[in-house]
Amino acid sequence: MPSPLPLAAIPRAALPALLAAAPKAELHLHIEGTLEPELMFALARRNGVALPYADVAALRAAYAFADLQSFLDLYYAGASVLLTAQDFEDMAYAYFERAAADRIRRAEIFFDPQTHTARGVPLATVMAGLEAAIARAARDLNLSVALIPCFLRHLSEADALQTLEALLPYRARLLGVGLDSSERDHPPEKFSRVFAKARELGLRIVAHAGEEGPPAYIWGALNALGAERIDHGVRCLEDPALVAELRRRAVPLTVCPLSNLKLCVVPDLAAHPLPELLRQGLKVMLNSDDPAYFGGYLGENLRQCFEALPELDATAAYTLLRNGFEASFAGPAEQARWIAELDEVFAGFSAATETR
Ligand code: HPA
Ligand code: ZN
Repeated sequence: MPSPLPLAAIPRAALPALLAAAPKAELHLHIEGTLEPELMFALARRNGVALPYADVAALRAAYAFADLQSFLDLYYAGASVLLTAQDFEDMAYAYFERAAADRIRRAEIFFDPQTHTARGVPLATVMAGLEAAIARAARDLNLSVALIPCFLRHLSEADALQTLEALLPYRARLLGVGLDSSERDHPPEKFSRVFAKARELGLRIVAHAGEEGPPAYIWGALNALGAERIDHGVRCLEDPALVAELRRRAVPLTVCPLSNLKLCVVPDLAAHPLPELLRQGLKVMLNSDDPAYFGGYLGENLRQCFEALPELDATAAYTLLRNGFEASFAGPAEQARWIAELDEVFAGFSAATETR
């Protein structure tokens, strides 16, 4: 992407401070995945829910995952403490405060309606809590938040259709819909009709694909669901024709490095395909996925990636951060405002470098 900024002049040593100072977008964040163990225990006590762990330390010790499914089992069990609108508001606002500390300006956040309705928690309760937190974040934290409910792909098409119906009264407050949960053996095509209905409603479309699943699932997300962004998508590199298509259409990939590490999609961060995705000219940006479970919020994902991957320089930092705003579904005026702020921060670091 053409940049008027002398990015090449910024040394790698300046990157941690630059990354911390820069405004950011978060487009792949499951709000249930921000439930920190301390808050999980506090809500369990408040609601009289029993957790199968003695304390916070024992729970944290259980966060050693072998794959996506081993994480999901714990993640759905953790969500069982969420019962009232106040619980959802407390969880979401705690994340929004952390996001603001990371200088996130825009967050398009996922939630899983079926995880809650299946336990008898009404959608109205979930929405009331999330919306209360979103209003406070807009007012007090300079943070713009939009909601994307996701369908659980391990459940049936009929369940997803029913969930879409239940979401209709909230249509005006929803940005789009997504697809998450167990990827293996649940191809996107299973939900073609659900997403066709969502598109008819004017909802924006995203889908998890190519995290553990094969490149065929990314093709499926694009062609059968009409996905405008691919969540994860790292396995696209196995299919050169797919890489060419993603590049041609500038489809954003919401990559989550610490998630990939914790779910053993990559053996270590030094082996993460992020540099190759950038070299291939793909529209990549970084995200935190389920930060309470994966050991770091967005700032930490950026910090650890730039530490582990020496080929990432100031140009890569600018590209990733700018892609985040451009890949958002916010309007052009808001995007331009955030990118101007981004440019200002980078220009400040360029000038500081040149006068040294
Ligand atoms: N993949 C699929 N489903 C999820 C994830 C993820 O990384 N996080 C929460 N639900
Ligand atoms: Zn995810």
